[in-house]
Amino acid sequence: MKSFVLPRRSTVIIWVIVTLVFFLTRCINRDKGKPSVSDKDKFSQFAGSAKCAGCHKDIYASHIHTPHYLTSRPASEEYIKGSFAPGENRYAYNASLFADMEKRDSGLFQVIYYQGAQKAILPFNIVVGSGAKGQTYIYWRKNWPLQLPISYFTAAHKWANSPGYPNKVVINRIITSRCLECHTTYAEMISSPGKEPEEFNRDRILFGVDCEKCHGPAASHVEFHLQNPNEKKGRYILNPASFSRQQSLDLCALCHGGQLTKTKPSFSFTAGDALTDYFKMDTAKAAHLSSDNIDVHGNQYGLLRDSKCFIMSDTMTCITCHNTHENERGKIELFSQRCMTCHNKEHGTFCKIKPGMVSSLEKNCIDCHMPKQGSRAIVLQLSGHEAPIAAMIRSHFISIYPGEVKKYMDALDKDKTKKIN
Ligand code: HEC
Ligand code: HEC
Ligand code: HEC
Ligand code: HEC
Ligand code: HEC
Ligand code: HEC
Ligand code: HEC
Repeated sequence: MKSFVLPRRSTVIIWVIVTLVFFLTRCINRDKGKPSVSDKDKFSQFAGSAKCAGCHKDIYASHIHTPHYLTSRPASEEYIKGSFAPGENRYAYNASLFADMEKRDSGLFQVIYYQGAQKAILPFNIVVGSGAKGQTYIYWRKNWPLQLPISYFTAAHKWANSPGYPNKVVINRIITSRCLECHTTYAEMISSPGKEPEEFNRDRILFGVDCEKCHGPAASHVEFHLQNPNEKKGRYILNPASFSRQQSLDLCALCHGGQLTKTKPSFSFTAGDALTDYFKMDTAKAAHLSSDNIDVHGNQYGLLRDSKCFIMSDTMTCITCHNTHENERGKIELFSQRCMTCHNKEHGTFCKIKPGMVSSLEKNCIDCHMPKQGSRAIVLQLSGHEAPIAAMIRSHFISIYPGEVKKYMDALDKDKTKKIN
């Protein structure tokens, strides 16, 4: 008896042809600039943070209130800080050129009027910025994300000309993949790398700096734990607590490291990777501090790295002071306690300011040693103002600032007089 049958020659030839055609068409499809298979796979490796809520309820519930989570959202009135109410919804370039923010039946728009006639109407599609300092907005033209002409400036509670714009209507500023890399978790690019303007799949954007930006894509983690409910050890997931110091810093520096020049396409970096494999780090060095060149916008890493605290301790990273699952903005006393884990009387490393000079010293180390300074990047033009106004950002160059100490003391004195009166 024959144990096996050899296939006929014609069958073999047909198989070879079918296989060839299959591989060839895949090559051709790729050449047309369609997303490569692995790019497509990347999006499906994410689970989305709503899934995490099932098993990490508390972290999820607090994280959705953080500026990270809120740093990009599909546009809706809930997330747009500026007002659509008549009287408060206008940015005037001059006496005859206006941008009005309007709520119409079909959505929310920036409408440009010149001498009373409507000249352009652009939809709010995506909100960028939690609104701590301000917000900027994106609209889609085909698959290109573009910046809307008018932004929102929180300090003034007003609509403003978008940062860096001349005093005229600009409607064609492209939003790049690098911009989205810092303000979203993932955005799928559909144009081939290097081709400009870049195009994105509008339906495959994970908004906000969400769980999986810091823990890595987690679809396998979710699937595994759904199927193995008794497993107590987290699988297929990254925890930055187990990173080396540099890995931990690199994760934050991806977005808080100032202007870096990329050497690989945006969104290639994953938590745990070395930043030097994706960016030229000499630009980070150039952004090092010199007191007349403080670009506090987004370069907390560069500033911190030059601080004595950082240089003289072996362990300090961003998460020494920040719990990124919580919105801790403005909790100055809590941050001061974190300073005192290293600087305290027992260790003899406490503040050397004359004892007794400041009674509330332990409640606020921050205003003296990490003062707010004007950002160079988030600078906005308000209607009717001569000069643009800068948003104030905490310096991460932890140091002694005599001018700030004086301000602090003056404010204390004012407080005292208020109480006496
Ligand atoms: C079906 C349940 C389940 C879901 C859904 C789930 N996890 Fe987990 N996760 C676990 C379990 C169980 C552990 C191990 C126990 C622990 O650390 O809480 C864990 C641990 C972790 C850890 C710590 C790992 C470590 O090594 O310390 C992280 C980080 C994590 N999960 C992130 C996520 C993220 C992000 C999501 C959503 C994309 C998610 N998890 C969704 C069950 C789940
Ligand atoms: C993908 C980019 C990205 C990564 C990675 C990232 N951040 Fe951020 N972070 C941002 C952006 C963007 C904002 C501004 C959010 C806003 O207000 O719209 C921000 C804001 C913050 C804030 C300010 C919150 C506030 O009170 O206003 C802190 C603190 C912070 N990040 C710390 C960290 C730390 C620590 C890490 C690393 C564990 C980290 N970030 C990683 C993009 C990132
Ligand atoms: C290298 C990462 C990075 C890039 C690129 C980047 N940003 Fe940011 N952006 C940040 C960080 C970090 C902050 C928070 C500023 C801070 O507190 O230091 C921020 C703040 C903002 C804010 C204010 C948010 C708030 O809630 O106050 C807006 C608006 C904004 N960015 C828009 C943009 C736009 C639009 C682009 C692209 C044209 C862009 N950013 C590019 C990292 C980045
Ligand atoms: C900006 C980065 C960042 C984001 C966003 C983030 N995490 Fe974390 N997460 C961390 C860091 C850093 C640690 C380690 C903290 C430590 O132990 O020092 C951590 C630790 C964890 C742990 C381990 C247990 C614990 O409580 O420390 C879990 C579970 C976890 N994260 C889940 C989540 C989930 C779920 C989300 C989204 C809802 C999320 N994380 C969003 C940075 C982040
Ligand atoms: C991980 C430990 C650690 C933490 C946390 C820490 N520091 Fe430091 N800091 C140091 C070390 C080490 C030095 C250098 C030795 C010294 O001067 O005590 C230092 C130095 C300083 C100096 C002197 C700077 C100079 O240029 O002379 C100031 C001011 C300071 N820290 C303030 C703070 C403040 C404010 C905080 C909280 C926001 C803080 N530190 C958090 C470890 C730390
Ligand atoms: C020694 C403590 C300490 C360390 C280390 C530290 N920060 Fe901060 N950070 C602070 C304090 C204090 C504030 C002010 C908080 C506030 O005003 O709500 C702050 C504020 C911020 C803000 C908001 C800035 C603003 O003005 O809106 C960002 C973003 C931020 N930190 C990112 C980082 C990143 C990224 C790292 C690591 C490179 C880092 N921080 C390391 C103490 C620290
Ligand atoms: C009113 C402003 C002010 C406040 C508030 C303040 N400091 Fe200071 N700090 C100073 C001044 C000024 C010096 C320099 C004193 C000197 O050398 O004469 C200093 C020095 C220091 C030094 C350097 C000590 C050394 O060995 O040279 C450290 C560390 C420090 N402060 C930590 C802190 C911590 C931690 C807090 C909060 C618990 C704090 N400071 C609150 C003004 C302040």
